Amino acid sequence: MKTNEKPAGLIMIFGATGDLAKRKLFPSLYRLYKKGRLSDRFAVVGVARRPLSNDEFQASVKASVESAIKDNGELEDFISHFYYHSHDVTDSSSYLELKSMAEELDTHYSLEGNRIFYLAMAPEFFGTIAEHLKADGLTDVDGFKRLVIEKPFGHDLESAKQLNKQIRKAFSENEIYRIDHYLGKEMVQNIEVIRFANAIFEPLWNNRYISNIQVTSSEVLGVEERGRYYEKSGALRDMVQNHMLQMVALLAMEPPIRLTTDEIRSEKVKVLRAMRPIEGDQVRDYFVRGQYGKGHLNGQEVPAYNQEPMVDEQSNTETYVAGKLMIDNFRWAGVPIYIRTGKRMAAKSTKIVIQFKDIPMNLYYQTEQTLNPNLLVIHIQPEEGITLYLNAQKSGQNIEATPVKLNFANKGIDDMNTPEAYERLLYDCMRGDATNFTHWDEVALSWSFVDKISDVWENTRAEGFPNYESGSMGPKEADRLLEKDGFFWWPVTDLDVEQC
Ligand code: BG6
Repeated sequence: MKTNEKPAGLIMIFGATGDLAKRKLFPSLYRLYKKGRLSDRFAVVGVARRPLSNDEFQASVKASVESAIKDNGELEDFISHFYYHSHDVTDSSSYLELKSMAEELDTHYSLEGNRIFYLAMAPEFFGTIAEHLKADGLTDVDGFKRLVIEKPFGHDLESAKQLNKQIRKAFSENEIYRIDHYLGKEMVQNIEVIRFANAIFEPLWNNRYISNIQVTSSEVLGVEERGRYYEKSGALRDMVQNHMLQMVALLAMEPPIRLTTDEIRSEKVKVLRAMRPIEGDQVRDYFVRGQYGKGHLNGQEVPAYNQEPMVDEQSNTETYVAGKLMIDNFRWAGVPIYIRTGKRMAAKSTKIVIQFKDIPMNLYYQTEQTLNPNLLVIHIQPEEGITLYLNAQKSGQNIEATPVKLNFANKGIDDMNTPEAYERLLYDCMRGDATNFTHWDEVALSWSFVDKISDVWENTRAEGFPNYESGSMGPKEADRLLEKDGFFWWPVTDLDVEQC
């Protein structure tokens, strides 16, 4: 796709006084500005309910950039591009005021009528806002118009369809940028490169050579202040429907014929279509749910999930999910892909472990040595890199093999922090590159997979909740899920990549 590397444009952020805007969006825009990736012809309108003057808004943008970034020269110049509109999302007259503000800025900064509408706020208003943007004329522009929409995209397939219908009245599919911030992470983007740019991996990337794949995304944080949202969502909707399945799609897809948005998406969609649906009684065999109890983390006692603010003491909501996915196609038939994600676990870590099959014959049997399998570990966060586990001769011996690691640590090589996911995604959206955003077909297929599991979980009380201690790696049943197949979870903390 041909993209304009520095387009002029107006970015309207709905939810500009919220957490996401402050923690991620303002600092990311600032980084783009500092790197010269924003044209001087840009303006940002912060939109939110509370009354604020432009000066007050600029001061809050400044404060959020300062708290995120130490080296913050040219900040005054940057914040001079920020404006504020106090808004009522259901009132047309408020949209008309916003429209005339946008038109003035358009002229003032020569923005060529390019507009990005970023919805960083409560999802119940997504549809209403999109409809008003069209009805009140904000989408009648000479340039491009794009809608950036945060998760959750619906609560299940039905509500997602409904929402999609509403936003499609105002924006076409290729104008909709559905954010999955995992797709902006350096090492998630690297999955494709590792697979498709290396002659040594792609030939082995199938059921002849891979025994199983493990994708872990563990968090130390609990549910914090998000109890109200989380009670209705749980880990399945919050993490599996989007981030986990997106990583699986990238790991399992066929090589696209070209690296274009459409080709990549169409390969990912095929993976999601080939995923074996798990429903009814099968859910118990393929999935494990957990909820954290109290425990200790970093030397401090932390409360159980059901004692968190806005959470029901009898809550049936899962804060942990482990599952076994089967992709029923030629490449992957018979290879389990295990996923697990949870809150209040022992470590913050997102890692992918690809375990290769054992070699056909162990020549080191005289020493009664079982050989370690070869592993490829992709470290997504907090470290970024890859490690390949091989067996080599133990020094001084000639019949003993010992495991060795080949490490590539991203940060060690670049000596700099890789860009924040949001920085990349904002930049991609401005350039009109939708590759790292989720297409409607992916959203729909993921919901349809997840809905069958939540149907069962919502209609049966979980046994023994809370069933894992805060600070552990989740419930014991999750270990049994792999043991049944003769595998075990590779402990993520032992696999840390060493800095080069
Ligand atoms: C979000 C979830 O999408 O991802 C949060 O809503 C979760 O519950 C977060 O904490 C994890 O993101 P990251 O980038 O910290 O792994």
